[in-house]
Amino acid sequence: TDDSTRELLLSRIRDVTDYPKPGVMFKDITPLLADPKAFTVLTDALAELAVRHGATKIVGLEARGFILAAPVAVRSGIGFIPVRKAGKLPGATLSQTYDLEYGSAEMEVHAEDLREGDRVIVIDDVLATGGTAEASVELVRRAGAEVVAVAVLLELGFLDGRARLEPHLRGVPLEALIKV
Ligand code: PRP
Repeated sequence: TDDSTRELLLSRIRDVTDYPKPGVMFKDITPLLADPKAFTVLTDALAELAVRHGATKIVGLEARGFILAAPVAVRSGIGFIPVRKAGKLPGATLSQTYDLEYGSAEMEVHAEDLREGDRVIVIDDVLATGGTAEASVELVRRAGAEVVAVAVLLELGFLDGRARLEPHLRGVPLEALIKV
């Protein structure tokens, strides 16, 4: 991604102060989704990463990760696999809990959707503390598949998600189109 692409994408992400609670700056991607030029540029950039890393499956993370990953899957001609918050998938699942600042959360995947030999790119909108991505990487591996890349639209550098994720990545690239 070149500078003009990054500038376009960044210009379509809206900062919302004190949301969802005081002191938090929320990164709202809805202006980007509403702009077909920007959404297409984003989809193309992520699809290029999927191809470059030789992905054979696209994993998207609920919920905003779905919106980004699904068109990438269609564009690339690669299957889409949802990683969902606990309790949403009807079939036999693998589940992974991860620590939040206070408490914990849980993500799940249909066990039959991934298998040995699959090369997975994990796609999400934002990397914040890295917990969601960490759990997803573990889920993909427990299903027997290989993670070939983790790709996000936006990395929030000040939250150190990259550092949290690093030990779990084991050399797998974390690709952020934009970092703030
Ligand atoms: C946000 C975002 C990422 C995650 C990043 O999702 O879309 O999935 O948080 O945070 P982390 O790096 O600290 O784990 P959220 O839980 O708000 O859910 P949504 O996409 O369903 O709105």
